[in-house]
Amino acid sequence: MENKRENFGSRLAVIFAMAGSAIGLGNIWRFPFMVGEHGGAAFILIYILATLLVSLPVFICEVTIGRRSRQTAYNAMPTLKPGLRLGRVAGFLSVLVPVVLASYYSVIGGWSLEYFFQAASGRIVRQSPAEVTTVFETFISSPWMPLTTHLLFLGICAFIVARGVKSGIEKFSKVSIPVLFFLIVGMLVYSVTLPGSAEGVRYMVHPDFSQINARSLAYALGQSFYSLSLGAGAIVTYGSYVKKSENIIVSSAATAVSDLLFAILAGLAVMPAVFAAGIEPGAGPGLVFQTIPFIFSSLGANLPIISTVCAIAFFLAITVAAITSEISLLEVAVSYLHDKFGLSRVWSSVLVFVFCGLVGALCSLSFGPLAAFKLSGMGLLDLFDWLCSNVLMLLLSLISVIFVGFFLGKENLRDELSNGGTLPLGRGLFNILYFAIKWVAPIAIALIFITNFIL
Ligand code: PFF
Repeated sequence: MENKRENFGSRLAVIFAMAGSAIGLGNIWRFPFMVGEHGGAAFILIYILATLLVSLPVFICEVTIGRRSRQTAYNAMPTLKPGLRLGRVAGFLSVLVPVVLASYYSVIGGWSLEYFFQAASGRIVRQSPAEVTTVFETFISSPWMPLTTHLLFLGICAFIVARGVKSGIEKFSKVSIPVLFFLIVGMLVYSVTLPGSAEGVRYMVHPDFSQINARSLAYALGQSFYSLSLGAGAIVTYGSYVKKSENIIVSSAATAVSDLLFAILAGLAVMPAVFAAGIEPGAGPGLVFQTIPFIFSSLGANLPIISTVCAIAFFLAITVAAITSEISLLEVAVSYLHDKFGLSRVWSSVLVFVFCGLVGALCSLSFGPLAAFKLSGMGLLDLFDWLCSNVLMLLLSLISVIFVGFFLGKENLRDELSNGGTLPLGRGLFNILYFAIKWVAPIAIALIFITNFIL
């Protein structure tokens, strides 16, 4: 198995692929409205602390589990500790979570693709600002268009995954992550030069701690887990393609810092524009799809060419970010079918496409023809999102840290992180990390559960 397994070619390839998974709709679509709803700069500060103190150690655990086992997420813990029931539960969740997540993530990826097309055709800039919300609602509630863009988006991602780890995932991420960086920085520059944007910049850099409470702490931690792709099998699976000579701590830290940077840049790009447009920052999930077109259409009358170019760049950025995340989810399922049943990557990708295509179709229709079908007051997409990000991903992350902290053991962890003693690994740093993995992370995750379900 070991010899046949593909590897990422270089450290940069590892970081780009992992950062590609981490940087996604979570950064550009979810983070800005979370910041808007939970107190601006104060939330950002807590988010940075949560990422460095809790999520990064969890990330290191997942990469370690993947690389040490050299197995896809389904088999990773059972290979390291045969017979451990917790490992089998984790294996099962590691197939369920990415498949469900990939199904509805692809629906929102499809919305980004549609808005990219609308930007490219000039429609976003031509429409009147008053029409923006109606256009969004009409689009998501119509049966065919969102279904088509969902399948198109999923098809692009399945195609990249079918090509393999090196020639598909690695090649795509190496090009798209730098492009994404320039697109976001370009957007930021555009956004902060808009008249009226200064208030938004102030909102992003001036902390108001009175808005911070247990709930916002739990949201910051939950968002940071989601943003780093934790608890979905993706990082474990990518970890299994990391070479034995690679430094896990350095690659993980570089990924976490890039993800943080992107979230903050995206927030700085979106929030000043939101203020410039006079929109409520806590407007919720529609923030990106409604406010950004609002701004482009408002400015379109005076600056049609610049607005069109920026609208194209912005929705291209969201779409590319969503593709690199979606492929990491599909890879978990494809490598499972490939490793467990010996199916070729192409056939595995076709099967995963069909399955996620169908489940995603139901999610997509939950805004239109299936809108009446609700469970606990939620449509299917919202329900799946809630189930994955508030329950299953946290549970899987909790199992991962407990597994490394209590079952894999300190010496095996040290051995993996120091590449068998060949890398320098300071005693102090290692002990802090081990403490964070064994105690801080499980307690923090348990607190999120308590806040979400009891408080
Ligand atoms: N990290 C992605 C984002 O921020 O959009 C979402 C995600 C991708 C979560 C892959 C989990 C995953 F395995």
